[in-house]
Amino acid sequence: MLDKIKQMLDEVNALQAANMEEAEALRIKYLSKKGEITALMADFRNVPAELKKEVGMRINELKNLATERINQLKAAAACQETVADDIDLTRTPYPIHLGTRHPLTLVKNEIVDIFSRLGFTLAEGPEVEDDWHVYSSMNFADDHPARDMQDTFFVEAHPDIILRSHTSSVQARVMEKQQPPIRVICPGRVYRNEAVSARAHCFFHQVEGLYVDKNVSFKDLKQVLLLFAQEMFGPDTQIRLRPSFFPFTEPSAEMDVSCTICGGKGCSMCKGSGWLEILGCGMVDPAVLEANGIDSSVYSGYAFGMGIERIANLKYQVKDLRMFSENDVRFLEEFTAAN
Ligand code: DAH
Repeated sequence: MLDKIKQMLDEVNALQAANMEEAEALRIKYLSKKGEITALMADFRNVPAELKKEVGMRINELKNLATERINQLKAAAACQETVADDIDLTRTPYPIHLGTRHPLTLVKNEIVDIFSRLGFTLAEGPEVEDDWHVYSSMNFADDHPARDMQDTFFVEAHPDIILRSHTSSVQARVMEKQQPPIRVICPGRVYRNEAVSARAHCFFHQVEGLYVDKNVSFKDLKQVLLLFAQEMFGPDTQIRLRPSFFPFTEPSAEMDVSCTICGGKGCSMCKGSGWLEILGCGMVDPAVLEANGIDSSVYSGYAFGMGIERIANLKYQVKDLRMFSENDVRFLEEFTAAN
């Protein structure tokens, strides 16, 4: 009996089945009511008492092995059949859920793209900056209120290291490394110590532009900004420049575009004025050129800076600034087809 079991163990170990039918035939051969292992178990009562323990163990071992082996063969056969029969490799896949670009990225890309077509190249600078690049080199007086803790985030224990509060710092980063002609467009995130509300946030995004060369005039600035406005908001868009003040430009101006909603007739968006403010600009103050190693008797330049959220709001009428950073996919998905 023990020899017979040993021989069957070898046999079972070597079992093979090409498909489900063959595997089932093996189950019937060994494990069904009339199967060989079942028969062996029926013979067990004829085993002499002193051998019963050993033979019992061996038979159980054989039965377990056979069950396991045949189940394995069945699983392999099932798997093969699925691959062969159930998978249609030509079928269109389930729709894959693609992510979308963030609306601010879309707007930033559009702005950068318009200026690249005008010959501006991309420049970037660090978000954690020093006072020199953010304020001093940009001609901010030592007691300028923007340097105040109310506006600026300071990096702990380093009064000189701050989070940049505008992208104008990238102007300094570019000028200190490069002599004119300079024509750069600098997008990036900026930080201000503001209470978060629908209309203000402690971080937002800007795009800075800088053009320095011989004989750059205010006319050049105005023409480039008009072109930008018409590319961004449509060919009928008009612009107007109002005198303003920034420490780093002289003269300085703020630019309005004709209202993107009513076209200038007056509506709730433009509060009846027909105009919407979109950016600050001006001729680079000679003191800024000098502070950054550029000879102001040879070169002149213009600069401008705008908020990306502001432009996005005008394009998409997003009422609450916080939506841009809350990452609610229902909001973000609205912009899939926008660009
Ligand atoms: N840095 C200014 C701000 O954050 C924006 C700005 C105004 C940038 C005028 C400029 C400029 O380059 O010429 O409000």
